Amino acid sequence: MSKFNINIYEVIFSLSDAVDLVGVDQIYHGKRVAYIAAECGKALNWDDDRLDDLFLAAILHDCGVSNTAIHSKLTNFEGKNVGNHCDKGADLLQKRPMLAHLENYVMYHHTPWTELLGLDLSEAVKFGANCIYMADRVDILALNGLESDPNILGSREQIRRKIKAKAGRWFHYDLVDIFLQISAPESFWLSMEQAQLSGYASSLIQHHSTQEIDFQELKKIILIFSQIVDAKSTFTTQHSDGVANLSRTLGELFKLSEHQCDKLELAGLLHDLGKLRVPDEILDKPGKLTQSEYYIVQRHSFDSYDILKNITGFEDIAK
Ligand SMILES: [Fe+2]
Ligand SMILES: [Fe+2]
Ligand SMILES: [Fe+2]
Repeated sequence: MSKFNINIYEVIFSLSDAVDLVGVDQIYHGKRVAYIAAECGKALNWDDDRLDDLFLAAILHDCGVSNTAIHSKLTNFEGKNVGNHCDKGADLLQKRPMLAHLENYVMYHHTPWTELLGLDLSEAVKFGANCIYMADRVDILALNGLESDPNILGSREQIRRKIKAKAGRWFHYDLVDIFLQISAPESFWLSMEQAQLSGYASSLIQHHSTQEIDFQELKKIILIFSQIVDAKSTFTTQHSDGVANLSRTLGELFKLSEHQCDKLELAGLLHDLGKLRVPDEILDKPGKLTQSEYYIVQRHSFDSYDILKNITGFEDIAK
């Protein structure tokens, strides 16, 4: 079995575009939640291991959301109906190498503090899950605010008030206190812009070195994302899987090395990631596409490449 050298933080951060793109209008939700949560954890002086877990879990917190319809229910601040995306997400992670220990962060990321208290979980997990919950609600309020005022600074005081009002019930007092401290300066909010987030993540990613992982283990991680792609459109259920298997078989018939065949299989699983940037109404349009719709579809292979190109060890896969 061949081995890959990967930085798991880099892999998850890049591929999380797949999770973030399910609600096309809310690109980068997972990444913003990871930024907000990590800033709270840092301000609370959590140790590096705890911060690393928090960051990864926060990026992936909504990985159980498989379609745009569920995503739209999660954008109501007071909304209680969050479906089963927490259980689904926890279940997805629980089977994966390097990520299984994050299961409960995802399971309880919509559970109020008052309910978390009585659960048999470690303090780190309780606070981590609650921190992700708060960060998630901050981002939802920010997104809702952008609808009336395109400048995020226009809604920050209202967001801070709404979060404060939930202290002691939805969120632990310490988390709310620290959020109110760190969110006072404008820079906290302006750092939530897309260009800033990539820089924020890359400095964090560079703190970690690459680790060796077996192909089969890596594939289990990659499947989280290829399944999201395949769930996007009813026409393409299991399409990524099929392309991966056929590509591998062809590689084997051509007597390529085992490592090359492994790369072909992973590339097959990931080749349509960019399709998540194509709006549902174009992807599922029954009639002929207009020229401009066709251009949007046409760019999806470049968008797949764009998501994969920054992952060390995936250079061939990206190409
Ligand atoms: Fe969620
Ligand atoms: Fe979320
Ligand atoms: Fe395809």
